Amino acid sequence: MSEPTDPSNSLDAAVGRVRAAWGGGSPPGSLLDGWEPGAAGIDEVLRLARLYRTHRREIARARPLAGRVVAGIFFDPSLRTRASMEAACARLGAHFLYLRPGEGSWSLELRDGVRMDGAEPEHVREAARVLSRYADLLAIRAFPGGRDLVEDRREPAIRAFAAHATVPVLSLESALAHPCQGLADLMAFDQAAGGPPRGAPICLTWAPHPRSLPQAVPLSVVRMAAVAGADLRIACPEGWDLDEEVMARAREVSASRGGTISVYRDPDEAVRGAIAVYAKGWGPSRPTEGIGEHYGALPVLDRWRVTARRMGLTAGGRGAFLHCLPVRRNVIVDDEVLDGPWSRVTEQAANREFVQAALLLAWLL
Ligand code: CP
Repeated sequence: MSEPTDPSNSLDAAVGRVRAAWGGGSPPGSLLDGWEPGAAGIDEVLRLARLYRTHRREIARARPLAGRVVAGIFFDPSLRTRASMEAACARLGAHFLYLRPGEGSWSLELRDGVRMDGAEPEHVREAARVLSRYADLLAIRAFPGGRDLVEDRREPAIRAFAAHATVPVLSLESALAHPCQGLADLMAFDQAAGGPPRGAPICLTWAPHPRSLPQAVPLSVVRMAAVAGADLRIACPEGWDLDEEVMARAREVSASRGGTISVYRDPDEAVRGAIAVYAKGWGPSRPTEGIGEHYGALPVLDRWRVTARRMGLTAGGRGAFLHCLPVRRNVIVDDEVLDGPWSRVTEQAANREFVQAALLLAWLL
């Protein structure tokens, strides 16, 4: 992409293209599951992210979002998400207001119609409305509780904020989606393919983890690979198939973009010829099949952990290794892979700032 010499001109134009594709010409609405921008909007967000990556020093000098406030409400911990949001806000001139419900700010009641005589002194209805008066965007991380998959699937915290906020809401990871990670991953696929990864073989492989993790990240990988029209191979054991509803929509989107989605039970077969191998631990769709009871079984670990031998089966033996991080070394992937020529995990994490800056500009410029 060739850019005009004055980045502010091209910034306005790039933001305009995102808004035209996603918001009907206006600043877009909330981003909760990652599908909202549509394929054309996602293409434009990535284009804007690349522009920011190239020109971020000049953009930072202009402080285009000076006077804007982004509230980051973290029900759960983070390294990359918090740091990359703060970095993007700092470079764009916006203020990032970090809140951790229950630690320094009130813990929140999420249920409607309850008598609030328990531990939570504030209801999400008031919190969302009040924070919308201070901030121009509410960015929320709320992992699933893990005890009730049906309740978790409702995504009560993020959906309540979206229902009661009067400014856009950005998901920083919920039960079923991590849209910023998905956009950063799409950028990483683009980098691995040396251009748009349409038709490119990409493997998403389940990997062992001592805890039953949410499916938010792998489902976001699936959504973005579908939008890209990639040849996505998902490798996972029986019982660990991904959420059926999201998969059904992803298959439709993938087909409309000229892509394919296939499921493999043999990880070696799935990675053969792939330009990228994305490893992630995730929990089963049914609560009884707890991953924890399988952890420690050596055949399971040996079969699914990503090794240098397996990376040698990728395209030219040089496929990119991707993971959203944090990653458990020698459980999910061997040191030899993470420290070897395949690993792109640092660049992938760097993409988080670029795509989030693009989103902030689309909402707040
Ligand atoms: N990938 C990711 O979201 O990292 P954090 O959990 O550290 O934010």
